[in-house]
Amino acid sequence: MDPVIVVLVALLLAAVAYKPLITLLNKSSGSAADKKPPSAVPVKAAYYVDAEAPQPTPLYITPEQVKTYDDRPWRPFRWPYHQTMSIFKLDINHWLDMDKYYWHYIQEKERIYHEYGKDNIDWLPESEDACIELMETVRDHMLKRYPLLFTSEDNGVHVKNELTGEVLDFSMPLKDHPLIYVTKMAKEDFYIVQKRADGHHYLVAAAVPFPGGSFGISYKIGKSLDFIHSEVPYYESKLKKSMERWFSKTTAADPVERASWYCTWDHNLLCSNVYALKKGETVDSSVDERKFNIRVERQTVRRLPKTKAIIFTNHPVYYSIEEMKDEPLIPSLLKKIFYEAPEDIIKYKNFTAMRDHLLPYLDGLIQRQIDLGLITEDTPLKTLPSYPFAHFVEQSDEIKGWNTAMLKRQDEAARKKEEEAKKAQAA
Ligand code: HEM
Repeated sequence: MDPVIVVLVALLLAAVAYKPLITLLNKSSGSAADKKPPSAVPVKAAYYVDAEAPQPTPLYITPEQVKTYDDRPWRPFRWPYHQTMSIFKLDINHWLDMDKYYWHYIQEKERIYHEYGKDNIDWLPESEDACIELMETVRDHMLKRYPLLFTSEDNGVHVKNELTGEVLDFSMPLKDHPLIYVTKMAKEDFYIVQKRADGHHYLVAAAVPFPGGSFGISYKIGKSLDFIHSEVPYYESKLKKSMERWFSKTTAADPVERASWYCTWDHNLLCSNVYALKKGETVDSSVDERKFNIRVERQTVRRLPKTKAIIFTNHPVYYSIEEMKDEPLIPSLLKKIFYEAPEDIIKYKNFTAMRDHLLPYLDGLIQRQIDLGLITEDTPLKTLPSYPFAHFVEQSDEIKGWNTAMLKRQDEAARKKEEEAKKAQAA
């Protein structure tokens, strides 16, 4: 049969099958007759065949391996630092990445929802179809990408999260809102954005336990992307147009990723210390420089094929400056950006709150890199060739995670330290 016809038939079947799922959800508070037992649920129907969206390939890591698994090492430091979309094509295998902090994020999500509820998770009625499509997409992604971490014996009606031991029951009527299911599977924050009749894009649902600082859902739900980005430097003059163009042409086949970052002296997920400062306040001078981290906000954007909703994920990952100190040029790039980035970006990221405190430490690290021969006085200061990742990203092994390279790097650093100590003794 002509492949186009196959796809059309598949899509038609999916559309027909999708309808009862929504109807069932709508009837979740209906009569007993509406509440069919799981066996009556159109299991296959919950899946859809999508010709556009890329599908993940399996990664056979076990829960035991996840305990030491590191995600790709993000180093999204650019110089010169211009405000651009800075998006990359996303390999769908990395849509929802895995790492050894998975359990921590999932537990924190639960705690934050219990404590803050609608401040961190909320949805508008218009998002219902998109929320269900997202839930199914996350479920299918986890089952396909991590077959040893998420298992199902009934084609996705019940899914066991082997990392937490929880069995999620997807039979209709759902026991909870679809976004709650999503947060029990993936460690990322999720934003659902839809285009309304006026042609603008609006935030219609969000599960964002780890905003870091500036984001309160109650304040932003139902608002346009223009409103949400109103504080972002150069949004009006530079970003808005490119984003609008990108949103108007992107399909389910073109997922992208990007990374944003800022500096803080904690590992908080809900609200970073730098965002807890009052206006004009700076970090306490007693805070040890080795406590400073770069909080990378690893983000993805993809369109769902059926509802066409835009799914934006955000995931905070912390890297201490100390752990990056022997990566060529990292301390130099940080110093340069803290002091010489465009003024509005410096203000937005509140670099003035900590840069003077960090300066002697950064200068010390830069001198150390020169002494160790990692850089010279003349090494040109510019974006790393491995951007947005650390230079050792290529040496890693997908099955073992990126910690193999990290361990090698730590060994190397320890060896160099020993050599230094010996030299100092000899002198
Ligand atoms: C390709 C699309 C997008 C681009 C290029 C983009 C770009 C940006 C940039 C540059 C910032 C400032 C922080 C930074 O330096 O990265 C930002 C902040 C933010 N973006 Fe986006 N964004 C995109 C899509 C979205 C979507 C779909 C949402 C969903 C609601 C979103 C929500 C946010 C939020 C909540 C902030 C923080 C705003 C604040 O400071 O209050 N972004 N974005």
